[in-house]
Amino acid sequence: MDAFVINGGNTLGGSIEINGSKNACLPLMAAALLGDQPITLHHVPRLADISNMLNLLERLGCSIDEHDSGDGRSITLYAEDESLSLAPYDIVRTMRASICVLGPMLAKRGEARVSMPGGCAIGDRPIDLHLRGLRALGAKITLDGGDVVARVPASGRLRGNTVFLGGAFGPTVLGTANVMSAATLAHGTTVIEAAACEPEVVDVARLLNSMGARIEGAGTPRITVHGVESLGGAEHRVIPDRIEAGTYVLAAAITGSRLRLTNYPADALIAAQDQFERMGVCVRAADGPDADPLRRTVDAWREAAVRPTTVSTQPHPGFPTDLQAQLMALACLADGNSVITERIYEQRFLHVAELSRMGASLFRQGSTVVVSGVEQLVGAPVMASDLRASASLVLAGLAAEGETVIRRVYHLDRGYEQMEQKLRTLGAKIERVDERDLAPVPG
Ligand code: EPU
Repeated sequence: MDAFVINGGNTLGGSIEINGSKNACLPLMAAALLGDQPITLHHVPRLADISNMLNLLERLGCSIDEHDSGDGRSITLYAEDESLSLAPYDIVRTMRASICVLGPMLAKRGEARVSMPGGCAIGDRPIDLHLRGLRALGAKITLDGGDVVARVPASGRLRGNTVFLGGAFGPTVLGTANVMSAATLAHGTTVIEAAACEPEVVDVARLLNSMGARIEGAGTPRITVHGVESLGGAEHRVIPDRIEAGTYVLAAAITGSRLRLTNYPADALIAAQDQFERMGVCVRAADGPDADPLRRTVDAWREAAVRPTTVSTQPHPGFPTDLQAQLMALACLADGNSVITERIYEQRFLHVAELSRMGASLFRQGSTVVVSGVEQLVGAPVMASDLRASASLVLAGLAAEGETVIRRVYHLDRGYEQMEQKLRTLGAKIERVDERDLAPVPG
């Protein structure tokens, strides 16, 4: 396993490009299962989760062609063999997002068997809403040997219906993508109420519409899908990753640096931008007024001391849970007390104990953490435990005095492409090493 060794405390500078979004890409890739022709996705990030998804699609009969089209990595996917319908446990257990093949496979092949995703470090992540939505479209769903087995009704096709997809923690992102994708090939019209409004859902709808689907309202809480007989192929450029973008803004802020970010999805980061401003972090356009609001060039820097904040994570357009850990790293250095509440995954606080090892002053009660800002973080050996918690430790390590060693960075590799290389081009002192080459952790 790899680890990062960071020598913190120095200022960064320069420019980096934001990648295509991992969380958009996964359901976009699954849409290949719906079409009769190949789809080509541009700007696909090189990440462990994307490789897992490619592996799964190959097991489901898709041919894969990867090429460099001058627009990042491009991947063409074509569902050549539709006789297969099993998403096995050995892949699903490496990536919960495998569940997003369920809707497309069911709608197109009439049957899908997807291993039920198990527990997750950031909390319970049930799929009841996915199943409720597909059942509303007429699917017969059973559990067999740990697999979810779904079949279309005897008519051979799903049928449109009105379905409420809100749950105790709000709407579901991948659940919305699943039901919306399945409904494209249903007989009749589907209305998804309490749909997730995340930009990734909008991106999936955009691809499906260019394949011939008739989806209206994506990006709002009510999505209407008029079923069509078949879908064709399409070419699509994946939206930039708003969470990667927000993480690099926070890297500029925590190190007191000025960074230029290109391919920056400003329009998808308005709640985050509001938090950045409150904490004294500036993000300003460096391009013209006609630039695509999802692909801007911006400069990010911090003007003065970090100001404390109060924030609750919420479904989009609220502040994203996927930036909570990274924002907390910055709040650790604020001039006062911040209050951070997690409302999507109440247990998503694996970074709290690790940040405390670096000198942060944190008090957690339930789903809220009170962060008392300290003057300085200090380097320490810490453990990455989930993707975004790992990113927060990298940010803390960049700002800390001395050496921080972060073990188990494979979590980070799931969602950040070559983070250490990007940071090194900005002047950070960060190395990837084999954990076996590190001195043993004392005790
Ligand atoms: N939920 C249910 N029932 C369901 C589905 C979800 O109760 O059937 C609950 C969840 O437990 C959670 C809330 O609803 O409390 C929202 O979960 P959601 O379904 O929206 O999450 P997801 O679609 O599985 C995606 C991202 C996550 C991100 C969440 C929330 C992907 C691959 N994953 O997950 O990203 O945190 O939306 O925005 O798109 C990450 O990138 O680090 C990550 C975890």
